[in-house]
Amino acid sequence: MREIVSAALSEEAVGADFAALPVPQSYRGAVVLRDESEMFQGMATADKEPTKSLSVREVPTPEPAPGEALIAVMASSINYNTVWTSLFEPMPTFGFLQRYARSNEPGAERHDQPYHVVGSDLAGIVLRTGPGVHRWKPGDRVVAHCLSVDLQSPDGHDDTMLDPEQRIWGFETNFGGLAELSLVKSNQLMPMPKHLTWEEAAASGLVNSTAYRQLVSRNGGQMKQGDVVLIWGAAGGLGSYATQLALNGGATPVCVVSGERKARLVRSLGAELVIDRAKEGYRFWKDESTPDPKEWKRLGSHIRELTGGEDSDIVFEHPGRETFAASVYVARRGGTVVTCASTSGFRHEYDNRYLWMSLKRIVGSHFANYREAWAANRLIGRGMIHPTLSTVYPLSDVGIATQAVHRNQHAGKVGVLGLAPAEGLGVQDEALRERHLAGINRFRSHRS
Ligand SMILES: NC(=O)c1ccc[n+]([C@@H]2O[C@H](COP(=O)([O-])OP(=O)(O)OC[C@H]3O[C@@H](n4cnc5c(N)ncnc54)[C@H](OP(=O)(O)O)[C@@H]3O)[C@@H](O)[C@H]2O)c1
Repeated sequence: MREIVSAALSEEAVGADFAALPVPQSYRGAVVLRDESEMFQGMATADKEPTKSLSVREVPTPEPAPGEALIAVMASSINYNTVWTSLFEPMPTFGFLQRYARSNEPGAERHDQPYHVVGSDLAGIVLRTGPGVHRWKPGDRVVAHCLSVDLQSPDGHDDTMLDPEQRIWGFETNFGGLAELSLVKSNQLMPMPKHLTWEEAAASGLVNSTAYRQLVSRNGGQMKQGDVVLIWGAAGGLGSYATQLALNGGATPVCVVSGERKARLVRSLGAELVIDRAKEGYRFWKDESTPDPKEWKRLGSHIRELTGGEDSDIVFEHPGRETFAASVYVARRGGTVVTCASTSGFRHEYDNRYLWMSLKRIVGSHFANYREAWAANRLIGRGMIHPTLSTVYPLSDVGIATQAVHRNQHAGKVGVLGLAPAEGLGVQDEALRERHLAGINRFRSHRS
């Protein structure tokens, strides 16, 4: 592994040098263990601790199958799917791995292991490619998006997310990115933005692509200039990219956050309309099963106050049960609620009269297809959208990093170093970086 790191840090190493490096037989990766899937049984979600379920173990290196690539991971980031995996909620991910292993894909059986190497982002260097890969070669600096897809069925040929064998790499597949090495399908790879460090480059893939489809794409909110966009969790992983995409596309984001520090962060992105849900004390449920429509109305009035009387064309939803009914209520007549998650609970309840009588739409959105992921990465590469990296941890502290996200103590994205020995390495275009330094560092003031 030491030779890989020296080649990665050397300015002289070329593709042939990486191709000639021996591939280690094993590597360190962040894992949950099948034997421990029941460890939190009976506990409330909030009391479960990722530091107990996630550990760093040595695991055997998989050989790339046709169409795959083995990557030396320089850095990765925490996504909420790793929080779910580490809590074994809503179910242990080992079922996904077993299902994948039963598919007809060549090499799929390797994914069913008693350990699950997690993580759905990476920035790194191609070490080896499997048969049939010609676009990428050893030595290429890459980021990976997390759409693992088979494409043998015609269902996904218009929109790769619709493939029946669509999976999220590092969540529904093994050998994920929170590790020293990782196995991906080569069509997950995209060029690493040249002006970013390894950890900055690894921050955006999953959330930026998801926010792009959810908000901008014709498969999601189809945002246009002048739209009012209500963004829940605007200083979080998804929300910090949705806010930038809204501003970049000429829309007006109304950013919901909890706390003054997060309010300052989204203002620093350029958002002018901010709701501090903690300060305002919004409670959309009187108790576990009784919604409070007065609170939906209070939120609607608050949005109108901020926008000068306008309602939201698009509501960017992901908190789920706690906020969903309010989201449906505050969307404008003919507006769209576009949802990709249910952090606070997946059994939503809302008053359907406000949906049909006002001709609103609810759109389900999940990650992004190849084109959407590529388009989202292009915006990062051109310095139009910036990573919202706040804190960076070493791989050995992956449990602590995941716990910070579970406890909502973080802002933007939390990074994790893989083989990169320190932060600040990997930049190839210093001039472009210099132009965007303030944007790149915006969330660095927030420590979880
Ligand atoms: N389908 C997909 O492809 C996809 C992709 C990415 C993420 N997701 C899912 O989306 C969700 C968010 O992911 P993320 O990366 O953005 O997580 P994150 O970094 O934790 O950000 C979520 C934000 O939501 C806000 N929030 C949390 N609970 C809330 C509640 N009960 N009411 C209102 N706001 C609440 C918090 O902001 P404040 O406390 O500041 O308000 C938090 O910062 C997760 O469930 C994740 O699994 C789905």
